[in-house]
Amino acid sequence: MTVIPAFSRSAASLLCTLALLACVNTTARAEATRAAIDERVERLLTQMTVAEKIGQLAQVNADEGKMSAKLRAAVKAGMVGSVLNAVDVATVNELQRVAMQESRLGIPLLMGRDVIHGFKTVLPIPLGQAAAWNPDLVQQGARMAALEAAASGVNWTFAPMIDVSRDPRWGRIAESFGEDPHLVSVLGVASIRGFQGDDLTRPGAIAACAKHFVGYGASEGGRDYGFVGIPEIDLRNVYMPPFKAAVDAGVATFMTAFSDVNGVPASGNRFLMQTVLRDEWKFPGLVVSDWESILDMVVHGFAASEKDAAFEALSAGVDMEMASTTYRDHLPALLAEKRIDMATLDAAVRNVLRVKFRLGLFERTVTDPADYPPVASEQNLALAKKLTAQSLVLLQNRGAVLPLERQSLRSLAVIGPMADDDYEQLGTWIYDGDTALSRTPLQAIRDIVGPQVAVRHVRAMETTRSRTTTAFAEAVDAASRSDAAVLFLGEESILSGEAHSRADIDLPGNQMELVRAVRSAGKPVIVVILAGRPLTIEPILGDADAVVYAWHPGTMAGPAIADILFGVESPSGKLPVTFPRVVGQVPIYYAQRNTGKPPLPGTFLHIDDIKVRTSQTGLKNKSWYLDAGYEPLYPFGYGLSYTSFAYSDIAVTPSRARVGMPVQVRAVVTNVGKVEADEVAQLYVQDVVGSVTRPVRELKGFQRVRLEPGESREVSFQLTADDLAFYGRDMRRATEPGTFHAWIGGSSKAELRADFELTAD
Ligand code: NOJ
Repeated sequence: MTVIPAFSRSAASLLCTLALLACVNTTARAEATRAAIDERVERLLTQMTVAEKIGQLAQVNADEGKMSAKLRAAVKAGMVGSVLNAVDVATVNELQRVAMQESRLGIPLLMGRDVIHGFKTVLPIPLGQAAAWNPDLVQQGARMAALEAAASGVNWTFAPMIDVSRDPRWGRIAESFGEDPHLVSVLGVASIRGFQGDDLTRPGAIAACAKHFVGYGASEGGRDYGFVGIPEIDLRNVYMPPFKAAVDAGVATFMTAFSDVNGVPASGNRFLMQTVLRDEWKFPGLVVSDWESILDMVVHGFAASEKDAAFEALSAGVDMEMASTTYRDHLPALLAEKRIDMATLDAAVRNVLRVKFRLGLFERTVTDPADYPPVASEQNLALAKKLTAQSLVLLQNRGAVLPLERQSLRSLAVIGPMADDDYEQLGTWIYDGDTALSRTPLQAIRDIVGPQVAVRHVRAMETTRSRTTTAFAEAVDAASRSDAAVLFLGEESILSGEAHSRADIDLPGNQMELVRAVRSAGKPVIVVILAGRPLTIEPILGDADAVVYAWHPGTMAGPAIADILFGVESPSGKLPVTFPRVVGQVPIYYAQRNTGKPPLPGTFLHIDDIKVRTSQTGLKNKSWYLDAGYEPLYPFGYGLSYTSFAYSDIAVTPSRARVGMPVQVRAVVTNVGKVEADEVAQLYVQDVVGSVTRPVRELKGFQRVRLEPGESREVSFQLTADDLAFYGRDMRRATEPGTFHAWIGGSSKAELRADFELTAD
C-alpha cells in the first residue's frame, strides 16, 4: 500500500498561518479592486445619455463575422455593448478601435463567441470531457481554448453549458457535462477557472458564461426549446447547484435558458433572476439573454408585444439582449411611460460595465496574435490527445479482444463512415475548429502499426445515415482477409447539438446491419462509436467483441483512439450519463428517488415470458417495464479497463457525528490486474430518511488514481454538512440528522458500503 508522508505539526501550522495571511491579503486586494471598479462604473454612468445606456445592453451579431457599415455606425454611435461572432482579428481590432476611439465615451466591446470545446484545436465535446472525470484536464482544456480564442480578439465565451442533462434525445446533451449535479458542478467550475484564469485582466483570460439558467436540460420529451416543468425542490436540488457553484467560482456572466420554466420563460423569470440569482446568491455579474429569447416570449404567449417582452426581461434581470432588438426599440418608450425606471436601467448598465472593467478592456487596445502562444501548437494537440484518451469509455471487451497486439497483428480491417472523416469527429459547435488539424482514426492506426501491417480501409457507408448496403460485401471481404475488424460507427456531428434532438437514439442508417455483416466474416469485431449522445446500442452488443464509446472526440480522435486500441494506454473513461437499453426508458438516471415498490431482483418477468391468461395477481407489482426491465444498459459511472480494480476496507470516521461535523469516508482500491492504469474511484451517499424523499444514491466525490499492477491506494473523501445538505419542504437548505449509506467503487453500482449517523445534538 502507498504511504503518503505526513507533515509535521509545526510545518503544517506555519503553512496554515501563511495560507491565512495570503487569503486575507487576496481578499483585501479583491475588495479594493472591486471598489475601484465600482467607482469607475459610477463615474462613467453619470456621463452616459439614456441612448448610450441602452446601447450598452445591445449585443449585435456580426453577420458572417464581418463589420457591416451599419454595425460600424452603430458602434460609433455608442449603440452597441457587445458583438458576437466576429473572430477575424483585423475585424475585431477595427470594431474595438471604432468603439474606443470614435464613440463618444470610448467604451470597449465585449466580443462574444461560442468557444464550447476548444477553438482551432478541438477538444472532445463536453459530454466526452465529462467522461474523463478529470477536472484538472478540463480546466487546462478551457485555458487552451481561451488562449487560442483570445488571440483572435474574443474576450467572452458562451460556455460552460452546465445544464444537468438526463435526456439523450435532447441534442444539446452533447454540450453538457452529463446527468449529475455534482459532476456538472465540479467540471463547470473547472472550465470557468480555465477560461477566466486567476485574473480576468490577464491577456488570454476570457469571461465565461454559465448557461442556460435554468432547467433547459429538462426540456419536455427531449425536444429542444420544450417546456420545462420542474418542481422548485428539484430545481434547487438538481438543476441549480452547478449554477450556484459557478457564482461561487466567480463566473463573470450568466445566460438565460430558452425554456418556459414552470409557465414563466426564463428570460422573464423574476424568481430565477431576482429571488435566486441576485438576492440569494448575490451574483454581481452580467446576465445575457439567449439568442432572441426575449422576443420569443411573445411567441410563448407570455408577453403581448415586443415592448412587453422588453419590459418583462429587463425588470426580471436580463441585462443584455442577444441578437433581437426589443430593448433598443422599446426601452425609450418604457422609460418615458415610467413602466421602467432609470434605476432599473442603470442596474443593468452597471452589470455590463463592471464586466468590461473586470476584464481590463479599457486598458487593452489591439489584439496581436503574436502576443499569444501559437494556436494548435504541439502542446495543445498533446493536451487534446490526453483529454480525449481519458474520455474514451470501454463498454465491452469479451475475451479480452482489446488491446490489439501490435507484435502479432498482420492485417486489420478498418471499416465505417467515421473512420476517416476529419469533420464528423469534431462534433457540434465547432465554428472555429480547423478540419485540417484533424487526425483521423484511420491515419493514426496506420501510423501506430507501421507498414508491416496491412490496413484495409472500407468506408462502407457514405454517412452514418446511409441506407445502401452495396459496399457491405467489400467490408466483409476486408474483414475476412484480416486478423480483426475495427468499425468506426456512430452519428455525424449534425445529429446532435442545438435543435438536433432525436426521437430514436439508435445507430442511424444501416449501421446495425453493417456490424452484423462484418460479424459474418468470423473475425474479432471491435466497434468504436463516435456520437454526441448515448445511443441505444444494445442490438449490436451480441455481434461486437469490444465496444469503445468515443463521443465526438475532436481534433486528436485518431491518436487517442489508436493508443487505447493498441494498449499504449488503458481505457479509463467512465460514463457521465446513464445509457438506456431502449429509448422508452428515458429519462433514466441513477440518482432517482425510490418508488414505494422498487423492483425486486430475481422476480422480473419479461413480457415474452408471461404466460397467456396470467392474472395480475400472478405478477409482482413493481416499478419496471415489462419489455425493458428496470436496469439501464450501462449505469452512470461505468467504464472498463484493461486491468481490474478491487475495492476494500471502507470506513467512515467518525461513524457517528453531530450534524455540522465533517466525516471522512475512505476505502482501499487495488489494481488486481496486469497493467498499470487509471481508475476513477467514486463516492456515493444515500440519506436514508429525509423530510422529503431523497435520491437512492448521489455522487459526492471522485478521485482519479493511477495504480501499477498489485498496487493499493487509499482514497479518502471528506463530507461536510454542506455536502449533505439539501432543500427540504420549506425550501430551506439544511443537513438533516439520521442514517446515511456511503459506497465507494468504480461506478454508481458500487457495492462496498459503510454507514454513518448524524445526530442532532
Ligand atoms: C443559442 C444557444 O442556445 C446558446 O447556447 C448560444 O451561446 C447562443 N445561441 C449564441 O450562439
